[in-house]
Amino acid sequence: MKREHWGSRLGFILAAAGSAVGLGNIWKFPYMAGVNGGGAFLLIYLALVFTIGLSVMLAEMVIGRMAEKNAIGAFKKLKGGAWPLVGLCGVAAAFMILSFYSVVAGWTIAYMVKSVSGAISSSDPAVLGAAFGGFISGSISPLFYHAIFMALTVFVVLSGIGSGIERASKILMPALFVLLLVLIVRAVTLPGADKGLAFLLQPDFSKVTWHTVSDALSQAFFSLSLGMGAMITYGSYLSKKENISGAAGWVTLLDTAVAVLAGLLVLPAVFAFGFDPAAGPGLTFITLPAVFAQMPFGAFFAFLFFLLLAIAALTSSVSILEVVVAYFVDDRGVNRKMASIVVGVIIFFLGIPSSLSMGMMADTKFFGMTFFDLMDFLSSKLLLPIGGLFISLFVGWVVWGAAKADIAAHNGTVPFWINGWGIVVKFIAPLAIAFILIQGLMG
Ligand code: TRP
Repeated sequence: MKREHWGSRLGFILAAAGSAVGLGNIWKFPYMAGVNGGGAFLLIYLALVFTIGLSVMLAEMVIGRMAEKNAIGAFKKLKGGAWPLVGLCGVAAAFMILSFYSVVAGWTIAYMVKSVSGAISSSDPAVLGAAFGGFISGSISPLFYHAIFMALTVFVVLSGIGSGIERASKILMPALFVLLLVLIVRAVTLPGADKGLAFLLQPDFSKVTWHTVSDALSQAFFSLSLGMGAMITYGSYLSKKENISGAAGWVTLLDTAVAVLAGLLVLPAVFAFGFDPAAGPGLTFITLPAVFAQMPFGAFFAFLFFLLLAIAALTSSVSILEVVVAYFVDDRGVNRKMASIVVGVIIFFLGIPSSLSMGMMADTKFFGMTFFDLMDFLSSKLLLPIGGLFISLFVGWVVWGAAKADIAAHNGTVPFWINGWGIVVKFIAPLAIAFILIQGLMG
Protein backbone atom coordinates (compact mmCIF):
# COMPACT_ATOMS: atom_id res chain seq x y z
CA MET A 1 0.00 0.00 0.00
CA LYS A 2 1.28 3.46 -0.86
CA ARG A 3 2.13 5.58 2.17
CA GLU A 4 -0.30 8.38 2.89
CA HIS A 5 1.05 11.91 2.62
CA TRP A 6 0.02 15.30 3.92
CA GLY A 7 -2.18 17.10 1.38
CA SER A 8 -0.09 20.25 1.50
CA ARG A 9 2.89 21.87 3.17
CA LEU A 10 0.56 24.06 5.20
CA GLY A 11 -1.36 20.98 6.30
CA PHE A 12 1.82 19.42 7.66
CA ILE A 13 2.91 22.57 9.47
CA LEU A 14 -0.51 23.02 11.07
CA ALA A 15 -0.70 19.38 12.12
CA ALA A 16 2.80 19.46 13.63
CA ALA A 17 2.05 22.80 15.29
CA GLY A 18 -1.21 21.27 16.52
CA SER A 19 0.79 18.50 18.14
CA ALA A 20 3.12 20.97 19.81
CA VAL A 21 0.48 23.44 20.98
CA GLY A 22 -1.48 21.88 23.83
CA LEU A 23 -2.06 21.81 27.56
CA GLY A 24 1.71 22.29 27.83
CA ASN A 25 1.46 25.80 26.36
CA ILE A 26 -1.81 27.14 27.65
CA TRP A 27 -2.16 25.50 31.05
CA LYS A 28 1.44 24.73 32.02
CA PHE A 29 3.56 27.52 30.54
CA PRO A 30 1.82 30.46 32.32
CA TYR A 31 2.06 28.80 35.73
CA MET A 32 5.66 27.68 35.18
CA ALA A 33 6.51 31.28 34.28
CA GLY A 34 4.54 32.41 37.34
CA VAL A 35 6.34 30.06 39.70
CA ASN A 36 9.77 30.80 38.20
CA GLY A 37 9.59 34.57 38.40
CA GLY A 38 8.17 35.59 34.99
CA GLY A 39 10.45 37.44 32.57
CA ALA A 40 13.72 35.66 33.31
CA PHE A 41 12.08 32.26 32.82
CA LEU A 42 10.62 33.47 29.53
CA LEU A 43 14.04 34.58 28.24
CA ILE A 44 15.77 31.32 29.21
CA TYR A 45 12.89 29.33 27.72
CA LEU A 46 13.16 31.24 24.42
CA ALA A 47 16.93 30.73 24.26
CA LEU A 48 16.60 26.98 24.81
CA VAL A 49 13.68 26.53 22.39
CA PHE A 50 15.47 28.17 19.49
CA THR A 51 18.76 26.31 19.98
CA ILE A 52 18.26 22.82 21.36
CA GLY A 53 14.50 22.54 20.77
CA LEU A 54 14.63 23.57 17.13
CA SER A 55 17.59 21.31 16.51
CA VAL A 56 15.98 18.18 18.00
CA MET A 57 12.75 18.98 16.10
CA LEU A 58 14.70 19.05 12.84
CA ALA A 59 16.46 15.80 13.81
CA GLU A 60 13.11 14.03 14.37
CA MET A 61 11.60 15.32 11.13
CA VAL A 62 14.62 14.32 9.08
CA ILE A 63 14.63 10.79 10.57
CA GLY A 64 10.94 10.44 9.75
CA ARG A 65 11.24 11.67 6.21
CA MET A 66 14.36 9.64 5.36
CA ALA A 67 12.80 6.43 6.67
CA GLU A 68 9.12 7.03 5.86
CA LYS A 69 8.38 4.86 8.88
CA ASN A 70 6.94 5.05 12.39
CA ALA A 71 9.14 5.79 15.42
CA ILE A 72 10.32 2.18 15.88
CA GLY A 73 10.45 1.24 12.19
CA ALA A 74 12.48 4.32 11.28
CA PHE A 75 15.40 3.29 13.52
CA LYS A 76 15.14 -0.29 12.22
CA LYS A 77 15.28 0.85 8.62
CA LEU A 78 18.06 3.42 8.98
CA LYS A 79 20.40 1.43 11.22
CA GLY A 80 18.93 -1.48 13.18
CA GLY A 81 20.87 -2.97 16.08
CA ALA A 82 19.70 -1.65 19.43
CA TRP A 83 18.49 1.68 17.96
CA PRO A 84 14.82 0.63 17.56
CA LEU A 85 14.71 0.57 21.38
CA VAL A 86 14.69 4.37 21.22
CA GLY A 87 11.43 4.16 19.29
CA LEU A 88 10.11 1.55 21.70
CA CYS A 89 10.73 3.93 24.63
CA GLY A 90 8.78 6.52 22.64
CA VAL A 91 5.83 4.17 22.16
CA ALA A 92 5.87 3.33 25.88
CA ALA A 93 5.99 7.05 26.71
CA ALA A 94 3.01 7.62 24.39
CA PHE A 95 0.85 5.18 26.40
CA MET A 96 1.79 6.87 29.66
CA ILE A 97 1.55 10.49 28.53
CA LEU A 98 -1.79 10.07 26.80
CA SER A 99 -3.29 8.25 29.79
CA PHE A 100 -2.90 11.24 32.11
CA TYR A 101 -3.06 13.92 29.41
CA SER A 102 -6.55 12.70 28.53
CA VAL A 103 -7.63 12.95 32.17
CA VAL A 104 -6.62 16.64 32.36
CA ALA A 105 -8.08 17.28 28.90
CA GLY A 106 -11.32 15.75 30.21
CA TRP A 107 -11.35 18.39 32.95
CA THR A 108 -11.29 21.10 30.27
CA ILE A 109 -14.40 19.61 28.63
CA ALA A 110 -16.07 19.42 32.03
CA TYR A 111 -15.22 23.09 32.62
CA MET A 112 -16.79 24.03 29.25
CA VAL A 113 -20.00 22.50 30.56
CA LYS A 114 -19.60 24.05 34.01
CA SER A 115 -19.03 27.52 32.59
CA VAL A 116 -22.38 27.32 30.78
CA SER A 117 -24.26 25.71 33.67
CA GLY A 118 -23.07 28.40 36.11
CA ALA A 119 -21.28 25.88 38.37
CA ILE A 120 -18.06 27.93 38.32
CA SER A 121 -19.54 31.43 38.21
CA SER A 122 -18.29 32.37 41.68
CA SER A 123 -15.60 35.04 42.01
CA ASP A 124 -14.29 33.64 45.29
CA PRO A 125 -11.10 31.57 44.78
CA ALA A 126 -11.87 29.57 47.93
CA VAL A 127 -15.25 28.50 46.54
CA LEU A 128 -13.71 27.69 43.16
CA GLY A 129 -10.86 25.76 44.77
CA ALA A 130 -13.38 23.63 46.63
CA ALA A 131 -15.43 23.12 43.46
CA PHE A 132 -12.34 22.04 41.53
CA GLY A 133 -11.11 19.74 44.29
CA GLY A 134 -14.58 18.25 44.66
CA PHE A 135 -14.87 17.60 40.93
CA ILE A 136 -11.45 16.01 40.30
CA SER A 137 -11.60 13.85 43.42
CA GLY A 138 -14.89 12.32 42.33
CA SER A 139 -14.94 8.97 40.54
CA ILE A 140 -17.58 8.76 37.84
CA SER A 141 -17.73 12.30 36.50
CA PRO A 142 -14.01 12.85 35.67
CA LEU A 143 -13.86 9.35 34.16
CA PHE A 144 -16.86 10.17 31.99
CA TYR A 145 -15.07 13.23 30.55
CA HIS A 146 -11.82 11.25 30.17
CA ALA A 147 -13.81 8.70 28.12
CA ILE A 148 -15.31 11.44 25.93
CA PHE A 149 -11.90 12.94 25.26
CA MET A 150 -10.35 9.55 24.39
CA ALA A 151 -13.27 8.81 22.07
CA LEU A 152 -12.71 12.10 20.22
CA THR A 153 -8.97 11.35 19.91
CA VAL A 154 -9.64 7.86 18.56
CA PHE A 155 -12.18 9.22 16.09
CA VAL A 156 -9.69 11.68 14.56
CA VAL A 157 -6.85 9.13 14.35
CA LEU A 158 -8.92 6.35 12.81
CA SER A 159 -10.05 8.75 10.10
CA GLY A 160 -6.43 8.77 8.83
CA ILE A 161 -3.79 11.32 7.95
CA GLY A 162 -5.39 13.48 5.28
CA SER A 163 -9.06 13.43 6.21
CA GLY A 164 -8.59 13.10 9.97
CA ILE A 165 -5.56 14.74 11.47
CA GLU A 166 -4.84 17.26 8.72
CA ARG A 167 -8.42 18.40 8.20
CA ALA A 168 -9.06 18.79 11.92
CA SER A 169 -5.84 20.79 12.41
CA LYS A 170 -6.58 23.10 9.49
CA ILE A 171 -9.86 24.15 11.08
CA LEU A 172 -8.90 24.01 14.73
CA MET A 173 -5.50 25.72 14.73
CA PRO A 174 -6.62 29.03 13.18
CA ALA A 175 -9.70 28.98 15.44
CA LEU A 176 -7.42 28.69 18.42
CA PHE A 177 -5.33 31.67 17.38
CA VAL A 178 -8.39 33.87 16.90
CA LEU A 179 -9.86 32.84 20.26
CA LEU A 180 -6.59 33.58 22.06
CA LEU A 181 -6.37 37.05 20.52
CA VAL A 182 -9.95 37.91 21.52
CA LEU A 183 -9.31 36.86 25.11
CA ILE A 184 -5.99 38.74 25.30
CA VAL A 185 -7.66 41.97 24.21
CA ARG A 186 -10.05 41.50 27.12
CA ALA A 187 -7.28 40.59 29.59
CA VAL A 188 -4.78 43.38 28.84
CA THR A 189 -7.44 46.10 28.97
CA LEU A 190 -8.44 45.20 32.53
CA PRO A 191 -7.43 47.86 35.05
CA GLY A 192 -4.17 46.74 36.71
CA ALA A 193 -3.21 44.40 33.87
CA ASP A 194 0.02 46.33 33.30
CA LYS A 195 1.55 44.77 36.42
CA GLY A 196 1.12 41.34 34.83
CA LEU A 197 2.69 42.56 31.60
CA ALA A 198 5.66 43.93 33.51
CA PHE A 199 5.98 40.64 35.41
CA LEU A 200 6.21 38.67 32.16
CA LEU A 201 8.26 41.15 30.15
CA GLN A 202 10.75 42.57 32.68
CA PRO A 203 13.23 39.85 33.63
CA ASP A 204 14.29 39.54 37.27
CA PHE A 205 17.44 37.41 37.19
CA SER A 206 17.77 37.32 40.96
CA LYS A 207 15.26 34.44 41.01
CA VAL A 208 17.15 32.29 38.47
CA THR A 209 18.77 29.05 39.66
CA TRP A 210 19.94 25.94 37.80
CA HIS A 211 16.57 24.53 38.70
CA THR A 212 14.89 27.29 36.65
CA VAL A 213 17.05 26.38 33.67
CA SER A 214 16.29 22.68 33.91
CA ASP A 215 12.56 23.44 34.32
CA ALA A 216 12.70 25.62 31.21
CA LEU A 217 14.42 22.91 29.20
CA SER A 218 12.00 20.13 30.17
CA GLN A 219 9.09 22.48 29.48
CA ALA A 220 10.59 23.13 26.04
CA PHE A 221 10.74 19.39 25.27
CA PHE A 222 7.21 18.69 26.43
CA SER A 223 5.78 21.74 24.70
CA LEU A 224 7.47 21.07 21.35
CA SER A 225 6.41 17.36 21.45
CA LEU A 226 10.00 16.15 21.31
CA GLY A 227 11.75 13.00 22.49
CA MET A 228 8.95 10.53 21.82
CA GLY A 229 8.96 10.15 18.05
CA ALA A 230 5.85 12.27 17.42
CA MET A 231 7.78 14.41 14.94
CA ILE A 232 9.41 11.29 13.44
CA THR A 233 5.94 9.91 12.81
CA TYR A 234 4.53 13.17 11.40
CA GLY A 235 7.71 13.65 9.32
CA SER A 236 7.22 10.20 7.82
CA TYR A 237 4.08 11.40 6.03
CA LEU A 238 6.01 14.27 4.40
CA SER A 239 6.65 14.24 0.73
CA LYS A 240 10.33 14.09 -0.22
CA LYS A 241 10.13 17.55 -1.74
CA GLU A 242 9.39 19.59 1.38
CA ASN A 243 11.85 21.97 2.94
CA ILE A 244 11.79 20.58 6.47
CA SER A 245 14.09 23.14 7.99
CA GLY A 246 11.50 25.78 7.13
CA ALA A 247 8.72 23.61 8.55
CA ALA A 248 10.62 22.95 11.80
CA GLY A 249 11.19 26.69 12.14
CA TRP A 250 7.50 27.48 11.65
CA VAL A 251 6.33 24.83 14.12
CA THR A 252 8.78 26.06 16.76
CA LEU A 253 7.74 29.65 16.16
CA LEU A 254 3.98 28.91 16.33
CA ASP A 255 4.36 26.81 19.48
CA THR A 256 6.37 29.53 21.19
CA ALA A 257 3.96 32.24 20.04
CA VAL A 258 1.03 30.38 21.63
CA ALA A 259 2.91 29.89 24.90
CA VAL A 260 3.76 33.60 25.05
CA LEU A 261 0.19 34.58 24.10
CA ALA A 262 -1.14 32.29 26.85
CA GLY A 263 1.20 34.06 29.27
CA LEU A 264 -0.12 37.41 28.03
CA LEU A 265 -3.66 36.18 28.65
CA VAL A 266 -3.25 34.57 32.03
CA LEU A 267 -0.72 36.73 33.89
CA PRO A 268 -2.18 40.23 33.28
CA ALA A 269 -5.61 38.88 34.30
CA VAL A 270 -4.21 37.31 37.45
CA PHE A 271 -2.51 40.57 38.45
CA ALA A 272 -5.53 42.69 37.57
CA PHE A 273 -7.55 40.77 40.16
CA GLY A 274 -4.76 40.56 42.73
CA PHE A 275 -4.19 36.81 42.70
CA ASP A 276 -0.86 35.07 43.24
CA PRO A 277 0.99 34.25 39.97
CA ALA A 278 2.87 31.46 41.77
CA ALA A 279 -0.38 29.62 42.60
CA GLY A 280 0.83 26.69 40.47
CA PRO A 281 -1.15 24.08 38.52
CA GLY A 282 -4.45 25.30 39.94
CA LEU A 283 -4.03 28.66 38.16
CA THR A 284 -6.10 27.70 35.13
CA PHE A 285 -8.90 25.81 36.80
CA ILE A 286 -9.25 27.83 40.01
CA THR A 287 -8.02 31.38 39.45
CA LEU A 288 -9.11 32.02 35.87
CA PRO A 289 -12.78 31.20 36.46
CA ALA A 290 -12.69 33.76 39.28
CA VAL A 291 -11.27 36.23 36.82
CA PHE A 292 -13.94 35.42 34.24
CA ALA A 293 -16.69 35.70 36.85
CA GLN A 294 -15.70 39.32 37.48
CA MET A 295 -15.82 40.23 33.80
CA PRO A 296 -18.83 41.28 31.74
CA PHE A 297 -19.99 38.26 29.70
CA GLY A 298 -17.82 36.16 32.03
CA ALA A 299 -19.60 32.86 31.34
CA PHE A 300 -19.08 33.40 27.63
CA PHE A 301 -15.35 34.12 28.03
CA ALA A 302 -14.94 31.14 30.35
CA PHE A 303 -16.63 28.87 27.83
CA LEU A 304 -14.39 30.19 25.02
CA PHE A 305 -11.26 29.68 27.09
CA PHE A 306 -12.01 26.07 28.01
CA LEU A 307 -13.11 25.32 24.46
CA LEU A 308 -9.76 26.64 23.29
CA LEU A 309 -7.93 24.49 25.80
CA ALA A 310 -9.88 21.38 24.76
CA ILE A 311 -9.13 22.07 21.07
CA ALA A 312 -5.43 22.52 21.76
CA ALA A 313 -5.38 19.32 23.80
CA LEU A 314 -7.15 17.33 21.07
CA THR A 315 -4.68 18.19 18.28
CA SER A 316 -1.89 17.16 20.70
CA SER A 317 -3.46 13.94 21.94
CA VAL A 318 -4.03 12.90 18.34
CA SER A 319 -0.27 13.06 17.68
CA ILE A 320 0.46 10.98 20.78
CA LEU A 321 -1.99 8.22 19.75
CA GLU A 322 -0.67 8.37 16.17
CA VAL A 323 2.83 7.40 17.38
CA VAL A 324 1.43 4.08 18.64
CA VAL A 325 -1.06 3.50 15.81
CA ALA A 326 1.54 4.17 13.08
CA TYR A 327 3.72 1.44 14.59
CA PHE A 328 0.92 -1.16 14.53
CA VAL A 329 -0.17 -0.13 11.03
CA ASP A 330 3.37 -0.07 9.48
CA ASP A 331 5.14 -2.89 11.26
CA ARG A 332 2.40 -5.22 12.47
CA GLY A 333 -0.03 -4.97 9.56
CA VAL A 334 -2.98 -4.07 11.81
CA ASN A 335 -5.62 -1.94 10.11
CA ARG A 336 -5.82 1.68 11.20
CA LYS A 337 -9.39 1.54 12.55
CA MET A 338 -8.71 -1.54 14.63
CA ALA A 339 -5.38 -0.22 15.95
CA SER A 340 -6.87 3.17 16.90
CA ILE A 341 -9.81 1.67 18.78
CA VAL A 342 -7.90 -1.07 20.63
CA VAL A 343 -5.01 1.21 21.66
CA GLY A 344 -7.49 3.96 22.61
CA VAL A 345 -9.40 1.59 24.89
CA ILE A 346 -6.19 0.37 26.56
CA ILE A 347 -5.09 3.96 27.18
CA PHE A 348 -8.53 4.79 28.60
CA PHE A 349 -8.10 1.97 31.15
CA LEU A 350 -4.54 3.05 31.95
CA GLY A 351 -5.95 6.54 32.65
CA ILE A 352 -8.46 5.29 35.26
CA PRO A 353 -5.95 5.00 38.13
CA SER A 354 -4.53 8.43 37.14
CA SER A 355 -7.96 9.99 37.43
CA LEU A 356 -8.74 8.15 40.69
CA SER A 357 -5.44 9.25 42.20
CA MET A 358 -7.06 12.68 42.68
CA GLY A 359 -9.55 11.06 45.09
CA MET A 360 -10.13 7.42 45.99
CA MET A 361 -6.52 6.41 45.23
CA ALA A 362 -4.82 9.53 46.60
CA ASP A 363 -3.13 7.48 49.31
CA THR A 364 -2.03 4.63 47.05
CA LYS A 365 1.63 5.49 46.52
CA PHE A 366 4.17 4.05 44.07
CA PHE A 367 7.74 5.02 45.03
CA GLY A 368 6.14 7.81 47.06
CA MET A 369 4.07 9.14 44.15
CA THR A 370 0.43 8.88 43.17
CA PHE A 371 -0.25 6.91 39.99
CA PHE A 372 -0.79 10.19 38.10
CA ASP A 373 2.55 11.59 39.27
CA LEU A 374 4.27 8.29 38.54
CA MET A 375 3.08 8.32 34.91
CA ASP A 376 4.17 11.95 34.54
CA PHE A 377 7.54 11.25 36.15
CA LEU A 378 8.36 8.13 34.13
CA SER A 379 7.40 9.73 30.82
CA SER A 380 8.32 13.42 31.08
CA LYS A 381 11.27 13.19 33.41
CA LEU A 382 12.78 9.91 32.14
CA LEU A 383 11.61 8.63 28.76
CA LEU A 384 11.35 11.96 26.89
CA PRO A 385 14.82 13.26 27.80
CA ILE A 386 16.35 9.82 27.14
CA GLY A 387 14.56 9.72 23.79
CA GLY A 388 15.73 13.24 22.88
CA LEU A 389 19.29 12.39 23.88
CA PHE A 390 19.42 9.30 21.66
CA ILE A 391 17.64 11.01 18.76
CA SER A 392 20.34 13.71 18.75
CA LEU A 393 23.11 11.12 19.01
CA PHE A 394 21.51 9.08 16.23
CA VAL A 395 21.37 12.00 13.80
CA GLY A 396 24.67 13.56 14.92
CA TRP A 397 26.81 10.43 14.93
CA VAL A 398 25.01 7.70 12.93
CA VAL A 399 23.18 9.25 9.98
CA TRP A 400 24.64 12.77 9.93
CA GLY A 401 25.92 12.45 6.36
CA ALA A 402 22.56 11.25 5.07
CA ALA A 403 20.60 13.75 7.16
CA LYS A 404 22.74 16.61 5.93
CA ALA A 405 22.41 15.45 2.34
CA ASP A 406 18.65 15.06 2.76
CA ILE A 407 18.22 18.62 3.99
CA ALA A 408 20.69 20.08 1.52
CA ALA A 409 19.07 18.32 -1.44
CA HIS A 410 15.63 19.66 -0.64
CA ASN A 411 16.76 23.20 0.09
CA GLY A 412 18.40 23.36 -3.34
CA THR A 413 21.81 24.30 -1.98
CA VAL A 414 23.68 23.52 1.22
CA PRO A 415 22.34 26.14 3.65
CA PHE A 416 25.13 28.00 5.42
CA TRP A 417 23.96 27.03 8.91
CA ILE A 418 23.86 23.32 8.35
CA ASN A 419 27.34 22.62 9.73
CA GLY A 420 26.49 24.66 12.80
CA TRP A 421 23.43 22.49 13.24
CA GLY A 422 25.73 19.46 13.08
CA ILE A 423 27.63 20.73 16.11
CA VAL A 424 24.40 21.25 18.02
CA VAL A 425 23.03 17.72 17.38
CA LYS A 426 26.40 16.05 17.87
CA PHE A 427 27.55 17.77 21.06
CA ILE A 428 25.46 20.56 22.53
CA ALA A 429 22.02 18.95 22.54
CA PRO A 430 23.14 15.58 23.99
CA LEU A 431 25.18 17.25 26.73
CA ALA A 432 22.42 19.69 27.65
CA ILE A 433 19.82 16.93 27.73
CA ALA A 434 22.03 14.71 29.88
CA PHE A 435 22.27 17.67 32.22
CA ILE A 436 18.48 18.05 32.63
CA LEU A 437 18.09 14.33 33.07
CA ILE A 438 20.51 14.40 35.99
CA GLN A 439 19.02 17.61 37.43
CA GLY A 440 15.52 16.16 37.13
CA LEU A 441 16.54 13.00 38.96
CA MET A 442 18.36 14.86 41.72
CA GLY A 443 15.68 17.54 42.15
N1 TRP B 1 3.23 19.25 23.14
C1 TRP B 1 1.94 18.93 23.69
C2 TRP B 1 1.57 20.01 24.71
O1 TRP B 1 2.26 20.97 24.85
C3 TRP B 1 1.89 17.55 24.31
C4 TRP B 1 2.45 16.51 23.40
C5 TRP B 1 1.93 16.10 22.23
C6 TRP B 1 3.65 15.80 23.58
N2 TRP B 1 2.74 15.15 21.65
C7 TRP B 1 3.79 14.94 22.46
C8 TRP B 1 4.59 15.82 24.57
C9 TRP B 1 4.91 14.12 22.33
C10 TRP B 1 5.71 14.99 24.44
C11 TRP B 1 5.87 14.16 23.32
O2 TRP B 1 0.58 19.90 25.37
